[in-house]
Amino acid sequence: MRKKIVAGNWKMNTTVPEGVELAKAVVEKSAQLPENVGLIVAPPFTHLASVASVLKGSKVQLSAQNCADHEKGAYTGEVSVSMLASVGCQWTILGHSERRQYYGETDEKLVEKVKLALAGGLGVILCVGENLDQREAGKHFDVVTDQIKNVLYNFTADDMKKIIVAYEPVWAIGTGKTATAEQAEEIHACIRKVLADKFGAQAADDTTILYGGSCKPSNAKELFAQKDIDGGLIGGAALKADDFIQIALSY
Ligand code: PGA
Repeated sequence: MRKKIVAGNWKMNTTVPEGVELAKAVVEKSAQLPENVGLIVAPPFTHLASVASVLKGSKVQLSAQNCADHEKGAYTGEVSVSMLASVGCQWTILGHSERRQYYGETDEKLVEKVKLALAGGLGVILCVGENLDQREAGKHFDVVTDQIKNVLYNFTADDMKKIIVAYEPVWAIGTGKTATAEQAEEIHACIRKVLADKFGAQAADDTTILYGGSCKPSNAKELFAQKDIDGGLIGGAALKADDFIQIALSY
């Protein structure tokens, strides 16, 4: 059975001491969670080593928010997969819409990054999602289908065991506008079908697909009740340990 996951994307927020405090509070409160709900936090690069020591021995796993598209060498300012693994990261988020929108991250680049992450032993949380214009033009299914095909169709059913998909409609990220449970569910079901077409029904059924975009304690229950929604990728609400855990308790 696929795993339920609630992951917190801290984005470019908190100083290291603040991040360590937040991680401590998440660990402390995570004891209330049922066995089948996994927690992941994704702090900024600078925090990873310190947060890793806070998470040690807890059920909370550590993710980066991005990784380099090369293995190593003269790439000033970049952080490689082996660096992330060496500080105890188990995951990296890839293809977040903010990376696609502000830093020119393309599907082609993402294929390279996913390859490197998997080869280096990291799991991947791959983000997909349409923007407002695409939704209003009725193209949301096509956009998301293309993103999934362009990136994930380069991999195998075995690779999919280490990949989580996060559907994040860009118009819902940080805007307070959440997709309705029905809007989210129909895209999640579409993603699972696109995965099944390539990897088979079993692999698609085993893939965790998260919803992200203004997910908070007040709407998580309804979203998570949907058949194909297996948890959330949480931005703003992940910066408060109480809200983050409250969302995870919505199962
Ligand atoms: P949000 O961000 O919860 O603040 O909307 C979600 C995300 O971008 O991952």
